[in-house]
Amino acid sequence: MSLFKWNDGFLVGNPEIDAQHKRLFQLADQLHDAMTAGKAKETLSQTLASLIGYTRVHFASEERLMQKHAYPDYAVHKAEHDKLTAKVLDFQKDFNAGRSVMTIDLMQFLKNWLANHIGQTDKKVAAHIKQKAA
Ligand code: FEO
Repeated sequence: MSLFKWNDGFLVGNPEIDAQHKRLFQLADQLHDAMTAGKAKETLSQTLASLIGYTRVHFASEERLMQKHAYPDYAVHKAEHDKLTAKVLDFQKDFNAGRSVMTIDLMQFLKNWLANHIGQTDKKVAAHIKQKAA
């Protein structure tokens, strides 16, 4: 069973952010599938790179939105993005060098991070943007 099954409880109410989150779930799901299917390291490495690449695109896009709408907790939110980015880039370096393996614990960590971050931190951004537009 997939860890990264989208459900509408993750919707934050901003179409741009929601579409990007859905795509993140799809990419994370592909990585989870590749891992559980025992795919070769090269495949895992490429799938991981796609997920990390899109995560960075998404974070940058969300940060632009926060700045555009003068979001007051921008710095705290960006720090959460930066911390996760640093962690996954470290993992990617170790994985590609053969010093780390892909584990279900890592997948579970990502799932929990996404669920918590989207459910709490991102929802506040969407609410702020909606309030500003009203
Ligand atoms: Fe959707 Fe703050 O990441």
